[in-house]
Amino acid sequence: MEECVLDPPQPAEVRVRMAAAGVCHSDLHVVDGEWERPTGIVLGHEGAAWVESIGEGVDDLEPGDLVVLAWTAPCSRCDACERQQPWLCVTPDGSGHRLAPELARMHRTTGEPIGIYSGIGTFGEHQVVARSAAIKIDPRTPPDIAALIGCAVTTGIGAVRNTAGVKAGESVLVIGLGGVGLSAVMGAAAVGAHPITAIDTSPAKLELAVRAGAHRALLADKVDQARGADHVLECIGLIETVELAVELARPGGVITLVGMTPQGHRASFDVYRLVEDGKQIRGSNYGSAVPAQDFPQIATEYLEGALPLDLLVTERIGLQELDAAFDAMRRGDGVRRVVVFG
Ligand SMILES: NC(=O)c1ccc[n+]([C@@H]2O[C@H](COP(=O)([O-])OP(=O)(O)OC[C@H]3O[C@@H](n4cnc5c(N)ncnc54)[C@H](O)[C@@H]3O)[C@@H](O)[C@H]2O)c1
Ligand SMILES: [Zn+2]
Ligand SMILES: [Zn+2]
Repeated sequence: MEECVLDPPQPAEVRVRMAAAGVCHSDLHVVDGEWERPTGIVLGHEGAAWVESIGEGVDDLEPGDLVVLAWTAPCSRCDACERQQPWLCVTPDGSGHRLAPELARMHRTTGEPIGIYSGIGTFGEHQVVARSAAIKIDPRTPPDIAALIGCAVTTGIGAVRNTAGVKAGESVLVIGLGGVGLSAVMGAAAVGAHPITAIDTSPAKLELAVRAGAHRALLADKVDQARGADHVLECIGLIETVELAVELARPGGVITLVGMTPQGHRASFDVYRLVEDGKQIRGSNYGSAVPAQDFPQIATEYLEGALPLDLLVTERIGLQELDAAFDAMRRGDGVRRVVVFG
């Protein structure tokens, strides 16, 4: 832990005080060297915060607002943004984890710029982020739940609703029941999918999946019983389960890949079978969601009792317990550990 210097917000930026930050496997991929990112950055990309001060030209946020931070801050000008696909924005606002001195607002006391993961670095007690990364939600949302809306929840629910387009009465198989997979189960239950089958190697996760709305939950070695679903969602990021997902979908079914492998890993499938069976494989980035719409919408559904997001919070921790939280995640122990800032 290190004390840093934070500049005031520039035009179209806001300074925030972190309220809560979830520990996501996409942080662990970086810690474990599976994804290439600059070193010496502030990790964390799943967080909720209060606005502290606003830069010039920010007219729709004010100090005290509760915001969920989006790990892609859409520029609203590139081709992807114009197609209403902000999750594919190629020139997102803010610094990202780049260390460009003109973009970095955080510095060491020696003046050296510090990058912040995905432009939000939610393991920092304070950050300056792009205005477009700060999405105001109902202030009654508990901060730890709000934090999870910033990644796992939107990723899982969005993969079901937006990317896969699951409809009521369709069968869904979710492989991997971390924060992302359990959120996918909740999303499937919310749209009235039937039956919903959930798979994990951990018995504790199976019990949670049933509480999240799964009709049956199976240990990974029983996966053969789950053949033939209309939709299969892979929420781990292992080649073995990615290839399995393609096998398990029914002919005409849709395979939605949500879990992410180490960079550069390749999977294979039987092309003849895939084509003859008319299956479709889709990649889901950030739940194909529009944060400015989906974050407040999901918070409202939670407050109305339609999404049991409390199930996702295994433990509230302090910043000093982050390493232990990463170790637990490596063991598949627990769903989300959420850093709560004092
Ligand atoms: N597509 C996106 O936009 C996006 C966004 C967020 C996270 N992710 C990725 O999604 C993945 C899941 O993230 P998370 O935070 O939920 O991770 P997590 O580590 O909390 O969950 C993974 C789950 O998979 C289970 N598992 C491990 N091996 C298994 C196996 N062989 N069979 C069945 N279950 C197994 C674990 O027990 C655990 O419950 C990660 O790869 C992460 O990087 C993708
Ligand atoms: Zn994440
Ligand atoms: Zn863009």
